[in-house]
Amino acid sequence: MTAHTPPKTYRVKSFGCQMNVYDGERMAELLSQKGITPAPEGEDADLVVLNTCHIREKAAEKVYSDIGRLVKAGREAGKEPLIAVAGCVAQAEGEEIMARAPAVSMVVGPQAYHRLGDMIDRAVAGERATDTDMPEDAKFAALPKRRKVGPSAFLTIQEGCDKFCTYCVVPYTRGAEISRPFNDLLREAQILLEAGAIEITLLGQNVNAWTGVDDTGRDIGFDALVRALAALPDLKRIRYTTSHPNDVTEGMIAMHGEVDKLMPYLHLPVQSGSDRVLKAMNRRHTARGYLKLLDRFREARPDIALSGDFIVGFPGETEAEFAETLALVDAVKYAAAFSFKYSPRPGTPAATMDGQIAREVMEERLARLQNALNRDQYAFNTASVGKTCEVLVERRGKLPGQWLGKSPWLQSVFFTGDAAIGDLVRVELVEAGPNSLAGRVLERVSA
Ligand code: SAH
Ligand code: SF4
Ligand code: F3S
Repeated sequence: MTAHTPPKTYRVKSFGCQMNVYDGERMAELLSQKGITPAPEGEDADLVVLNTCHIREKAAEKVYSDIGRLVKAGREAGKEPLIAVAGCVAQAEGEEIMARAPAVSMVVGPQAYHRLGDMIDRAVAGERATDTDMPEDAKFAALPKRRKVGPSAFLTIQEGCDKFCTYCVVPYTRGAEISRPFNDLLREAQILLEAGAIEITLLGQNVNAWTGVDDTGRDIGFDALVRALAALPDLKRIRYTTSHPNDVTEGMIAMHGEVDKLMPYLHLPVQSGSDRVLKAMNRRHTARGYLKLLDRFREARPDIALSGDFIVGFPGETEAEFAETLALVDAVKYAAAFSFKYSPRPGTPAATMDGQIAREVMEERLARLQNALNRDQYAFNTASVGKTCEVLVERRGKLPGQWLGKSPWLQSVFFTGDAAIGDLVRVELVEAGPNSLAGRVLERVSA
């Protein structure tokens, strides 16, 4: 590897979940603090960070083709960009990436990216480095203070996963479950508010497994954290994702009826409606148990919008078992959902199970499931028409004078009128589409 001139511009490309996006933002902040600036839109950057995701297939192949494209573009422009591969593919396949892609000078895992600055110095000196250590919680303390964020900001409160669902790579790429300390989170939330946030989404692979100790030394759970954050005057909205059914507590259900700032939205993945499949997935809950939980949330907060994740074609899934998933969907009537074809992940137990399902079968099942989910999402949006709600303005729309924001139920709402990014605007929802709603402004609640 040859020496490089120190990079002046960077680009961070994030491919994964919200936690991956959060990591991407923190890496960008770290690079900015080092004096490297974001590359202008449409221009090649001196340093590119590919912040990868390993959750489903083709992720790794995509990384290699991205690297190829960067090298080619660099060659045409007569320069050689510094390339760092970060995120969950880096964690899972670090050594392989180093061996296969000589153009990559840095491989850094999701728990080690606070050391990216040093790695860049070493890369400039011509050294290639891999850092996939998992130091406990050292990362957050070492990252620079957050200075400027949008009105809706992410805050990672919990990392890793100990659940070991048999299809999933996360326990391997993100490591063991850890909760960030209570006071650190209150401090980071305050910093986010000072940096422009109005809404905070608390993140974790199992966000509701969070535990901590409050100022009086008392052991507290996720609901107490939400209540403490709700007491921050400048924070107007709280969301969280992703929850696991087995970590739902009484307090978590109750807070949905009691904390006004907590938005009426719950993302609670179920994956399948068949108890046999759920068992093989090691989910440790039943379809009935899951439905009962949702009933409890609906009792606490009748207008709560429900969302979930689904996998079709898990090894051995029969047509009858898939029909149980469709029946569960019919029973719940989700406001939104994410659904995927099962993807065998190297090193996970399900990848070597008997009864792997043919691609065409998975595709056909996914199409049927998505039909049902889209139908319900559209019905949920249609039922919202006529309601009045607050919308948090997040960006401009495509048309002149148009704004785009989120309803309390996480629907995208377009409207035209007097507003600015970061406003809370009271609107009447007047028209529903499959993926968004049109609103009519009634008043600006806050500016
Ligand atoms: N921790 C969260 C989310 C994990 S990843 C949870 O447990 O709910 C997000 C979603 O990706 C999962 O909920 C699951 O639906 C999907 N997913 C994970 N591994 C997968 C795989 N091997 N194939 C297909 N989908 C997968
Ligand atoms: Fe993966 Fe299961 Fe953990 Fe979610 S709970 S991250 S699906 S192992
Ligand atoms: Fe992907 Fe890693 Fe998130 S595998 S889904 S980026 S935790």
